[in-house]
Amino acid sequence: MKKERQAVILAHYYVDGAVQEIADYVGDSFYLSRLAVDLPQQTILFCGVSFMGESAKILSPEKTVLLPDKTADCPMARMGTVEEIQNVQSTYPDLATVCYINSTAALKAHADVCVTSSNALKIIRQLPQQFIYFIPDQHLGRYIAGLIPEKTFIYGDGFCYVHTSITREALEGTKRQNPQAITLAHPECPKNILDLADYIGSTSSLIKYASQSDEKEFIICSEPGVLHPLKKNNPDKLFYQVPSALPCQDMKKINLEKIIFSLETMANQVEVEESARMKALKPLSKMLELSL
Ligand code: 13P
Ligand code: SF4
Repeated sequence: MKKERQAVILAHYYVDGAVQEIADYVGDSFYLSRLAVDLPQQTILFCGVSFMGESAKILSPEKTVLLPDKTADCPMARMGTVEEIQNVQSTYPDLATVCYINSTAALKAHADVCVTSSNALKIIRQLPQQFIYFIPDQHLGRYIAGLIPEKTFIYGDGFCYVHTSITREALEGTKRQNPQAITLAHPECPKNILDLADYIGSTSSLIKYASQSDEKEFIICSEPGVLHPLKKNNPDKLFYQVPSALPCQDMKKINLEKIIFSLETMANQVEVEESARMKALKPLSKMLELSL
């Protein structure tokens, strides 16, 4: 079906291993959004959540973007309102609104630039403004703020329920049971988890770090789907999950049956209304420009 439709299949690391296995490309949010622009195929089947498919469509409106399950949504993407944003924007002079890519097109429309966990530091360092309004993820925002002390941050109150399900108590227990293991954490985790981490990074940088390290055992503070590429690429290493960690229910909605159905019927196409697309395109294009 994929050949017949001349489609390319992109998958985020948080979808099931079986889905990652049939994808042409697997990666983190930034890698996938860049690929969606660069790849020549006219049809992109996106195994991920709605903001990912939406971003691909905003950046490449001439392409057909399929989401195998259109109800696969990221709750954090809706954590924020236009009124809140406008309030903050009218309060602070010299303010840049920085919107995590895990957001709806409606929120992105009010931002100066979008970021992902892998490029937020690089992009915000380049912004001339003194005040940075980081929406919606408060935890990623606070982590980046700690690395750029010369700027003043204001935060949205969004969070990822997957990464905040990793509790300090559960992580301490996993560390006690595996005292030799290195702790790797995604910056969507709260500060009390990041404080215990040996390395903090986006999904793909956690995978890169563990794969290149001479260490043999790792505790992963992120979504359990990341363990699939980690184990596959590093059969000689051991990876432990923190028992309190929840899987992302929306990423897990994507399965092989739904992928086949989407390709057969070309159903579940992502559409973004043109004026909304144009408004969200600006901060997304700025992200691509500043992350070069
Ligand atoms: P990255 O893939 O950018 O690390 O983001 C993690 C995430 O939560 C995606 O929904
Ligand atoms: Fe959203 Fe968290 Fe799921 Fe990523 S892991 S899609 S941030 S709920």
